[in-house]
Amino acid sequence: MFAPDFLAGKLILVTGASSGLGRDFAVAAANYGARILAFGRDEERLAQTLDECPGDGHSRFTDAIESVDEFVKKIRAATKEHGPVYGMFHCAGANTIQSMKGASDRTFDLLYNASVRGTSAIIGTALRKSVMEDGGRIVLMSSASAFKPAQGLALYGSAKAAIAQMANIAAPECAKRGITVNTIAAGNVVTEMHQKYVDGGVNNASERIEAQYPLGFGQPEDVSNLALYLMSPGGRWITGESILLDGGFRPA
Ligand SMILES: NC(=O)c1ccc[n+]([C@@H]2O[C@H](COP(=O)([O-])OP(=O)(O)OC[C@H]3O[C@@H](n4cnc5c(N)ncnc54)[C@H](OP(=O)(O)O)[C@@H]3O)[C@@H](O)[C@H]2O)c1
Repeated sequence: MFAPDFLAGKLILVTGASSGLGRDFAVAAANYGARILAFGRDEERLAQTLDECPGDGHSRFTDAIESVDEFVKKIRAATKEHGPVYGMFHCAGANTIQSMKGASDRTFDLLYNASVRGTSAIIGTALRKSVMEDGGRIVLMSSASAFKPAQGLALYGSAKAAIAQMANIAAPECAKRGITVNTIAAGNVVTEMHQKYVDGGVNNASERIEAQYPLGFGQPEDVSNLALYLMSPGGRWITGESILLDGGFRPA
């Protein structure tokens, strides 16, 4: 689908690289020649991701995103050591099904830290020349639930809506250096997070939810392919967009 070496020599920072969509993208980008700066919390699983990445020059950074200031410091330290990145794919995020009745600081931190604080740190640091090259690409993971309401996802969906709007508003500022910033608003894609979500429902939840997807649940490579496209030469003129990638999802 892409030239075999279209990311050759390019440095790409991936958060949430220890699992699911972040891992799939890191391996896919490395297959096209990228060097990966892999961020995640679980050291062992981050190491597994890098074991799967072909090529040399990949590095890993263990970090729990809890504060904008601390995450900014981590990104700046990583790019000071390795040089400015061409791309950032911000995939770190958590989900839980939560009635508004039970909303608490703990659930806010769980759902907002990586998604909202993390996005702010990613875009904010990318605006520094020492962190991202001119003409760089930022891709952020949002969710279809930011736009198509699903029961129990008010906090999660609102955090994901904040990501999309941050990208939308920051796009002109990023464009001054030729940097694009876009979000992928994905429906259910089969990963660990997805499994916990469908397992958290009542009997046959998976079948019931999948019935709302005319093209069935997504696979991690569906997301990676779009993220790779946004980082390819073809993605040059796309910015500030939130792209729904959801197999035609129609919430019941
Ligand atoms: N799968 C879906 O159906 C779907 C749909 C729409 C959007 N998304 C979004 O896509 C992203 C990736 O999802 P996934 O399905 O790949 O989930 P996943 O397999 O559960 O992976 C989540 C990743 O985020 C990391 N993470 C979570 N909270 C973090 C924090 N506070 N600080 C640092 N890292 C943190 C995890 O790190 P450790 O494992 O190292 O702890 C893990 O690498 C998430 O933002 C999710 O909301 C997923």
